[in-house]
Amino acid sequence: MIISETQKTEFKTKGWTSVNFTQDTKFLKTCINSIAKIKKKIILGDWKYSRLYHDYFGEKNIAAIELPFHEEIIDTNLKELFKKIDLGKAVCELMGWNKTYCSLARIFTMNNKRYHGHWHRDENYLSNTIEPNIVQVGIFLNDQIGFKILKKEYDKFGLSSIVDPDIEELIINFPRKSPLITLQTDDRYYYQIKALKGSVLFFDPRMLHAGCSNSERNDYHMRFHNGSSDTFKLMKQNSFQDFMVTQNLSSNFDYTSSPNEVKIMNIATNSFFNRILKSTNYYMPIKNLKHYIFLKKKFPNSKTKKWYLSKFSNTIFQKLR
Ligand SMILES: [Fe+2]
Repeated sequence: MIISETQKTEFKTKGWTSVNFTQDTKFLKTCINSIAKIKKKIILGDWKYSRLYHDYFGEKNIAAIELPFHEEIIDTNLKELFKKIDLGKAVCELMGWNKTYCSLARIFTMNNKRYHGHWHRDENYLSNTIEPNIVQVGIFLNDQIGFKILKKEYDKFGLSSIVDPDIEELIINFPRKSPLITLQTDDRYYYQIKALKGSVLFFDPRMLHAGCSNSERNDYHMRFHNGSSDTFKLMKQNSFQDFMVTQNLSSNFDYTSSPNEVKIMNIATNSFFNRILKSTNYYMPIKNLKHYIFLKKKFPNSKTKKWYLSKFSNTIFQKLR
């Protein structure tokens, strides 16, 4: 994967850039099949490190696979993917770093249900003049339109900011108050990324962003750091990658001896009854509307501040934008 000067400039000015790494659709399909096999293992109970955000009735809607480089689940196709893309080299080239390590990796694997995550930052945004020390990466195996990144000029240090301290606090606290409904803002304020299969998205995790999809997902989500030589002493290297990883991401990580190293979220399956309710709400969003009425009373002014409640998030009525 080659990083051009244009892409470097784009990352600096917009906070994100996208780079194509292959047009070999056949190869990408084999990788998607490999991911499908891991999902099968999860359903059979042979791999427990996964996430389940919205547990619908019917086929398990596995949201993410954790510890994706572990030898118990990774196969030759997925190893080949990493051998092909020289991701460590690309990260260093883009960011101007000498060496990098990866501290987070998961594969997002939603089914065809509509999904909208909460707006958030993965890093404190303390200054817009300091270059980021962390970069987040998405590797897309199929086309995916949806991911949203607030434009810099409208973020908190921007000339036309729509994120004052009150809004910042509202956005940070919102996920705790609302499991289904998300905040939304006008589409002119954010980029909606059209990720093509065979491309990698690099973005600054300090910027406000939100996951959003209306179709099946198969994308790696990773975080890379610019570390000191001291930090690298603690890191591991997988034979199929050109970057270091934290201990838990090494292919032979002993998860039985360090269960606390792996945070698993929402892994427990909901009850039969709750899954029926969840599916019913997806097609008849009564729960969303109840939450909306409750939240509307609490945030009556949010509309005037350019942010409003998106009442049909995570239902069939969710719009792509
Ligand atoms: Fe994020």
